[in-house]
Amino acid sequence: MTPLGKPPLVFMAQASDIKAIVTAPADVLRPGEGGAVIAPLVGRDSFMLADGEDHLAGRRRVVPGFQRERVSAHTQMVRATVEHEIAGWPLDTPIPLHGRLCALTLRVILHTIFGVGDERVDELHRRLLTMFSVAASLTLHMPTLRYAPPWRRVWRRFLANREGVDALLAELIAERARSRTHQQGLLAMLLGPMHVDGGPDAIGNVRDTLMSLILAGHETTGSELAWAVQLLAHHPAVMHRLVRELDGDNDAYLDAVINEVLRHRPVFLFTIPRAVAKPCEVSGRTYHPPVHLVGCVHLMQHDAAAYAQPEAFRPERFLDEAPRSDAWMPWGGGRKHCPGRHLALLEMQTVLRTLLEHLTIEPASARIETARWRTVIVTPGGGCRVVLRKRRHS
Ligand code: HEM
Repeated sequence: MTPLGKPPLVFMAQASDIKAIVTAPADVLRPGEGGAVIAPLVGRDSFMLADGEDHLAGRRRVVPGFQRERVSAHTQMVRATVEHEIAGWPLDTPIPLHGRLCALTLRVILHTIFGVGDERVDELHRRLLTMFSVAASLTLHMPTLRYAPPWRRVWRRFLANREGVDALLAELIAERARSRTHQQGLLAMLLGPMHVDGGPDAIGNVRDTLMSLILAGHETTGSELAWAVQLLAHHPAVMHRLVRELDGDNDAYLDAVINEVLRHRPVFLFTIPRAVAKPCEVSGRTYHPPVHLVGCVHLMQHDAAAYAQPEAFRPERFLDEAPRSDAWMPWGGGRKHCPGRHLALLEMQTVLRTLLEHLTIEPASARIETARWRTVIVTPGGGCRVVLRKRRHS
């Protein structure tokens, strides 16, 4: 496929081909280039857009902050944040939950980075939500539209919002780099080995790292949760079993539900495109620049050879069997394997547990919503409309 004004894209659905794409050496396939669509959000110094040693060096700085043990130290913060957000959601009327879930996951990643208790972080949350609304427009994907009416106004508004976000981020980073007294949160850990002196270059670099974590860390989890809510609302038998198991303090079914949501509705339908930098052979075919290779994770996770009734939402398939690494890849693979998966899982478990403890979920439409693109991921097209009601405990 050759999209207008873009390099040719070759899509692959065989598990072995997808593995080959994500594990290819950095000088052969370059994923950094393929993620260019998010550059206006995360900035040119983002490690997510770098390749080779620059990418690995950036990753090494953030990965320790998201290891399982560090993430489990955030359990209480995640629970408090989730309970606070959910308590404000309207009941007994159809409401779109996608935006609310993304606002919730944005708050969690901001608390993880900056700690809790600073009012400017609430202001940053507000500014970021406004800035990220650009993700719903075409201007990120098609730069030529940014200067043509009616998109020009959308783009100008985005640039102004980004300036506001950057000013506040620079203030928070510089202050913490200077004082080093605020030891809460991941930022303190990031600033440690970076020897940030408060100068504009160093601040720009930390800003891009933080924006990468903020973007990658909230829309993905918020959207995957939106799919979980849609799937549960439209599969009452699964939801009732989940409620029973959670009431009995049994988390095995919750884990199976989450694994099945990640299989059936992965927010990344595809891997980030990998730009061919040197001729590269996959399954007997050789690809040359400027081709980009893309792995179809959605197709891989719906392969009838790996799953009985792949189009059915059936968490039971993961009750006695862990997901197979050759047919389940919602976190990606190779050098770009998602570093935030432990935090994402903690958030998904906490949100679903808290929701179902206090509320019931009913669908607001006859069918599950179809998918809609938002930057590089897919989300429920109607905004995940459901009706929440207070649960009556018998
Ligand atoms: C359910 C939620 C999430 C899903 C499904 C998900 C999935 C993924 C996938 C598939 C990739 C690799 C993309 C590719 O290279 O093809 C990725 C990368 C990444 N994820 Fe996640 N993610 C989630 C949540 C998070 C969270 C909470 C964070 C928090 C920091 C995070 C941070 C990142 C970062 C920084 C990268 C880029 C890694 C790199 O460039 O080396 N993600 N994620």
